[in-house]
Amino acid sequence: MCTASDSFEADLGIDDGRIVAIASNLPPGERDIDAAGRWVLPGGVDSHVHLEQKSSMGVMTADDFLSGSVSAAFGGTTTFMSFAAQHRGDSLREVIDDYRARALPRCVVDYAFHLIVSDPTPRAMDVELPALIAEGVRSFKVYMTYDRLRLDDAQLLDVLAVAQREQAMVMVHAENHEVIQWIARRLLDRGHRAPKYHAVAHAPVAEAEATHRVIALSTLLEQPLLIVHVSDPVAIEHIRAAQTLGVRVYGETCPQYLFLTAEDLDKPGMDGAMWCCSPPPRDARAQEAVWRALSNGTLQVFSSDHAPYRFDASGKLPRGADTTFKEMANGVPGIELRLPLLFSEGVMAGRMTVNEFVALTATNHAKMYGLHPRKGTIAVGSDADLVLWDTQRRTVVDWSLLHDNVGYTPYAGRELRGWPQTVIRRGEVIVDDGTLYARPGSGQYLRCGLPLPLERAAAAPPARRLFS
Ligand code: URP
Ligand code: ZN
Ligand code: ZN
Repeated sequence: MCTASDSFEADLGIDDGRIVAIASNLPPGERDIDAAGRWVLPGGVDSHVHLEQKSSMGVMTADDFLSGSVSAAFGGTTTFMSFAAQHRGDSLREVIDDYRARALPRCVVDYAFHLIVSDPTPRAMDVELPALIAEGVRSFKVYMTYDRLRLDDAQLLDVLAVAQREQAMVMVHAENHEVIQWIARRLLDRGHRAPKYHAVAHAPVAEAEATHRVIALSTLLEQPLLIVHVSDPVAIEHIRAAQTLGVRVYGETCPQYLFLTAEDLDKPGMDGAMWCCSPPPRDARAQEAVWRALSNGTLQVFSSDHAPYRFDASGKLPRGADTTFKEMANGVPGIELRLPLLFSEGVMAGRMTVNEFVALTATNHAKMYGLHPRKGTIAVGSDADLVLWDTQRRTVVDWSLLHDNVGYTPYAGRELRGWPQTVIRRGEVIVDDGTLYARPGSGQYLRCGLPLPLERAAAAPPARRLFS
């Protein structure tokens, strides 16, 4: 059995969905599960997924709360957090109420919500947001790019000030909008329309500059920040430098920045659209920087950013073969493969310990969003959310093995070692050997509490860094 800090052998006693005993040789229960030969880890917590969400361009995700949560369960994730998105003119209260009503009858795993704030009107900031934070929606995402979502610096400061006063977590999509638009215009003027130009327009410098700027803004108000989906080595350096100065800035990354590159967007015809997300996958050097940042503690959470769009007119290709790189829906699927990918290439390949894996995929998410210790760990009193990993299984990824509604996976053909064989949610086996046992609507809505401070895993103090 493994947590973020320990590995040990023990029996677990579970009652009423919670862990009530951890000891050797517990007496038999009403039902016993033999986990011999398998690794027992906490259920995954995926704190960045987009389900049943309309993008700023009006495109609906391919996964609703049922297909998305079923896919999560098969991948070993027992809790997810998705985004209730405010589009301009929307009331935050109505956005949340509508989103909860959609999730309630469908989810098979537990879930909580973030907000996306795109229209920080006085009513939204002074009335709705404080009330929603008090009710347990304690985190919200803001965008520095996308025409219909982005906030300018003054609006970012307004939002940071509310978060500071109400003790909420701010998640930032950090890319410089003007830089991206400037490059994109020049590309399109010259007739460059193919998917691969998405990665050219979303240049690394756009991410690095915006990351640096929003960290600077946050220091004005001493408001903690999470930079989401970090992909660029210079952005990582900005985060690390701020952390070294004591700024409470955290970082998240995702499978696409470890396992994909910009070359994947350069496929024949429109195929590259399947690999299009923002920020885009970069290159081998950036991948190494992201691995390093996960192991030295600069990045604390590994999420999927599951943003599922089908490869047709309903998603990636609104104008078929005429779709330009500016018109393709942004996002890649990953809710089901997030854990198997990192387990295989991180733990089984010897890049990280299983305890680091647990921290990055479950415990730190639960701490960051105030769900710990109910979620994200194995402890007396915690929900019995567990995954029994078969470390011997080898799987060649193919979309037909998955349970999302996307129709493809960017990770097809990759051989993975280790698989989440049995998945237990609040004491109930919900997946076993490829079969689902959970009923739609059996997932529970979670209110988030205050974040717990996270530690940097291996922060070197400045003096030591000078000599290392
Ligand atoms: O390309 C991405 N990541 N799409 C999903 C929306 C977002 O910005 O996270
Ligand atoms: Zn984003
Ligand atoms: Zn996202």
